This record gives sequence, structure tokens and C-alpha cells, in this order.
Amino acid sequence: MQIVDVGDNAAQQRQMAELLTIGFRQHWPESWPTLEDALEEVAMVLRAGCARAALDDEGNVLGWIGGLPEYDGNVWELHPLVVHPQCQKRGIGRALVADFEQQVKARGGLTIQLGTDDVREMTTLANVDLYDNLWEKIARIRNLKGHPYEFYLKCGYKIIGVIPDANGRGKPDIYMGKRVE
Ligand SMILES: CC(C)(COP(=O)(O)OP(=O)(O)OC[C@H]1O[C@@H](n2cnc3c(N)ncnc32)[C@H](O)[C@@H]1OP(=O)(O)O)[C@@H](O)C(=O)NCCC(=O)NCCS
Repeated sequence: MQIVDVGDNAAQQRQMAELLTIGFRQHWPESWPTLEDALEEVAMVLRAGCARAALDDEGNVLGWIGGLPEYDGNVWELHPLVVHPQCQKRGIGRALVADFEQQVKARGGLTIQLGTDDVREMTTLANVDLYDNLWEKIARIRNLKGHPYEFYLKCGYKIIGVIPDANGRGKPDIYMGKRVE
């Protein structure tokens, strides 16, 4: 596997869009319901930020990661990240995140932030009053159904906040961040 810049390659961008629809279908089907939506997302990320793809020996896209600059480039939003369902749990996601951190460092970024939604009651932060004892609830968070916040914890990210009701009542967005070193 190698991780490369995503260039002006229509076939590669189509594979990236397909991966978005396949990878997010199970837990976030509302994210990119059609291939056209996903193609627009790929184009937006390439226009506004940067993207890197993990390829197999035949050049097939196994996963990809995107980033968008914020706060004059001091902060980068990690968005999106997806690994093909058949290739998950083999270290590709972790490798893409590590590579992205180097990309951000090279561009002078200081912090990476991301939002990871809980739309399907996958964590103990769903369906509770996050305006009551928020930081205790964050400290006691538990993963009920394989929510990716735990993947990011393993990559060194910390929970830095929540947006209550981001996806409807009781369906928060969990904000995570990591200093770029
Ligand atoms: C989240 C995702 C990118 C992880 O990619 P991956 O290639 O499977 O991750 P890795 O194999 O590098 O995993 C690194 C570690 O995180 C763990 N991990 C991965 N996904 C996890 C999950 N959903 N819940 C808990 N732990 C997880 C792995 O078990 C591994 O742990 P270990 O180092 O103790 O063995 C991938 O599952 C995916 O594309 N999911 C669908 C889209 C998505 O959720 N994107 C992120 C939205 S914010």
C-alpha cells in the first residue's frame, strides 16, 4: 500500500466518491445518499483543502482522507476519512491519519480538529442532557456500537467538546482534536 496525493484523476476521484457512499452507508446513510453528492464532496475537498489516498498495488483506492484549513491555516479540519469496509481493521485508517498529520505540519498547521457524529445511539453521549454535567459525561463516555471516536482516541485525539442536538434532539456531534507536533 502507498499513500499519495490525489491529483486530477477522474477515475480515482470516482473511486473516492464510491467509497464515501459505501463506507458511510451503515451508520450515516444521510451523509452522501447518491454518488453525485459524494462526487461533489470530493471536488469540494480538493478545491478547498487537500486529500491523500491509500492505494493498493493496482492503484485501487483502499481509503482516503481529506482536510480543510480554518483559522488562517492554524487549524485543519480532518474531513472526511473512510476506509473500504473490506479493508478495515488493518491499520489503513491509522496510517492515513498519521500521513495527514505530516501534511498539516508541512503546511504550518498547529491543530487538527474533527467532528464525529453520533446519530445512531452509538455512544453514551446520545439521548442525554449534555447541558448537565457535560465534562463528567465526556470523561465517562462508553462506546456502545463501534463508534469511530474510539479509533481517533487510539490515534491520539482527545474529545474537546460536543455540539448537542447537531443531528436532531439527542444526536450530538463529538468534537475531537490533536496538537500537530
Ligand atoms: C473509522 C475508520 C476510518 C477506521 O479505519 P481502519 O482502517 O479500520 O482503522 P485501523 O485499522 O487503523 O484501526 C486503528 C485502531 O482503531 C481501532 N478501531 C478502528 N475502528 C474502530 C471503531 N469503529 N471502534 C472502535 N475501535 C476502532 C482498531 O481496532 C485499531 O485498534 P488497535 O490499534 O488497538 O488494534 C473506518 O472504520 C471507516 O472508514 N469507517 C466508516 C467511515 C467512518 O466512520 N469515518 C470516520 C467518521 S468521523
